Amino acid sequence: MTRIGLVTSGGDAPGMNAAIRAVVRMAYINDIEVVGYEKGYKGLIAGLSRVLGPRSVSGIINRGGTILKTARAPEFKTKEGLDAAARILERDRIDYLITIGGDGSFRGAWELGKVSGVPVIGVPATIDNDVGGTDTTIGFDTAVNSALEAIDKIRDTATSHERIFLVEVMGRRRGFIAVEVGAASGAEFILIPEVEFNMVTLCNKIEEYRRMGKASIIIVMAEGVGDVRRIASEIERKAGGEVRISRLGYIQRGGAPTAFSRKLAMLFGSEAVKLVTSGRGNRMVGIKDGKIVTPDIRVGFEEWKEIDIELYRLAEKLAV
Ligand code: ADP
Ligand code: F6P
Repeated sequence: MTRIGLVTSGGDAPGMNAAIRAVVRMAYINDIEVVGYEKGYKGLIAGLSRVLGPRSVSGIINRGGTILKTARAPEFKTKEGLDAAARILERDRIDYLITIGGDGSFRGAWELGKVSGVPVIGVPATIDNDVGGTDTTIGFDTAVNSALEAIDKIRDTATSHERIFLVEVMGRRRGFIAVEVGAASGAEFILIPEVEFNMVTLCNKIEEYRRMGKASIIIVMAEGVGDVRRIASEIERKAGGEVRISRLGYIQRGGAPTAFSRKLAMLFGSEAVKLVTSGRGNRMVGIKDGKIVTPDIRVGFEEWKEIDIELYRLAEKLAV
């Protein structure tokens, strides 16, 4: 009987559980056994495994986080770590390894595949959406909607006090969340690592908006842009007025996945098992223009995905 190893790795994302459910049940339908590894690659190295059946994944489609837990495992970047993981895959007679995670997890899976000879399959799940080969990742839509709900609330108090709010959103290196939620929340400004901004220009624009009678100014900033406190105090000095900070942080990582995140998880998880049944390893699952695609897994961590610059510019234009 074919055996699939399954792991969730890197930053957790809402929808990972829905993906685990899809993999386990699609495997069951195809008479394939699933061995789940706990705590990401850290648990794989330690051999923390348990067999997963259709009842193991009952009642999780609507839960954030991951029942397999996850971790960041720097030791996986060492030969010793990879060799240890390869021995566990051999011990457990794993024929394919499915990794549910971000670009780093895909890179780790690729490295393990080279050392172990076990074909690997990537299911893109990260709130950052910074995985190549797919328009969007599991969890991104949920994180954007969690941030949107928070920013709509901030707008209420910003308007009541006629304040400027600098709202920091997640996105370790990229501005995908900031662009999407900045546009949807009607933010006056969106600051992202991909686009250089000029402080003087920003503050002049703030003063212009004030003269136009704007009661509140919301600036959505991706955490990768810089130190939110330093930027806030610089705006306060140059533009005047009260600047308050709100760091949304980890609320963007949790919560019940949206319908879209769950649908993506089901499509991706079941497609990953289809790659196993058709003997097509070392690939990732993605979605492009609404169609499921299965490129080489290296695309996930080698391809640079552009932000939606049209949306970014339209959002700032409509903030007038
Ligand atoms: P994400 O998968 O969400 O991008 P990370 O970047 O933390 O999260 O990657 C998850 C894990 O993948 C890391 O903790 C590490 O164990 C493994 N990993 C990342 N990059 C590499 C690499 N270049 N070689 C081997 N393993 C890696
Ligand atoms: O990778 C997703 C992410 O949430 C990033 O947006 C964030 O910067 C990072 O994880 C936080 O990492 P950790 O959960 O290890 O603190």
